[in-house]
Amino acid sequence: MTKQHYDERNNTVEMTVLITPDMANFSGNMHGGSLLKLIDQVAYTCAARYCGKYAVTLSVDHVQFKEAIKIGELVTLLASVNHVGNTSMEVGVKIVAEDIQTNTQRHTNSCYLTMVAVDENGKPSKVPPLKLVDSTQKARFIAAKLRKELRARHNEHLSALHSKWKDKIENLTSEQIDAEFDKYMNTDKS
Ligand SMILES: CC(C)(COP(=O)(O)OP(=O)(O)OC[C@H]1O[C@@H](n2cnc3c(N)ncnc32)[C@H](O)[C@@H]1OP(=O)(O)O)[C@@H](O)C(=O)NCCC(=O)NCCS
Repeated sequence: MTKQHYDERNNTVEMTVLITPDMANFSGNMHGGSLLKLIDQVAYTCAARYCGKYAVTLSVDHVQFKEAIKIGELVTLLASVNHVGNTSMEVGVKIVAEDIQTNTQRHTNSCYLTMVAVDENGKPSKVPPLKLVDSTQKARFIAAKLRKELRARHNEHLSALHSKWKDKIENLTSEQIDAEFDKYMNTDKS
């Protein structure tokens, strides 16, 4: 058997899975956790194959389950490395569910993960630059860069909010917290 090497780094992966009853939730549709696992698997495959190294998941952007996926549907996860930093990669995942009897397809959701390439000691390791060969890739790159900036701002806001309220809870009496709560509820009504 001959080994084939690709000149261009492949930055996309497609993975198709039949949704079986072991992936069901209590209402008989696909369990959200099972879908998250598939999303993480396809993002890992896409990132590791692209950079030629082991990759770990740093973060998953908010995932919305707006449409239930039924048991017996065929789910295709389309993943693409949209943007690379020094050691991190943004992978976008589009999920399409297909009713195999009617051949109808639905785009159920999309999400974005940040993956980091690591060396044998688990330390971040450099990834190859992303070659943008067409306008779709360029558009995805711009959108991913903007999302990266937004994520950084969001993280700053969250940690400021967290430390403010963590300090408050530790330093305030329960009467003071009740007063803050009433103030908050009054603001929330307006
Ligand atoms: C991912 C991991 C290797 C990063 O290690 P680290 O010491 O924070 O690494 P660095 O500070 O050098 O950052 C590495 C990259 O991640 C990015 N990064 C790190 N923390 C970040 C954050 N909070 N938000 C966004 N990006 C972040 C950095 O910008 C950098 O990207 P770049 O090289 O493209 O600029 C480390 O956090 C880890 O091993 N996490 C556990 C991963 C895991 O087990 N995942 C499965 C979860 S169940």
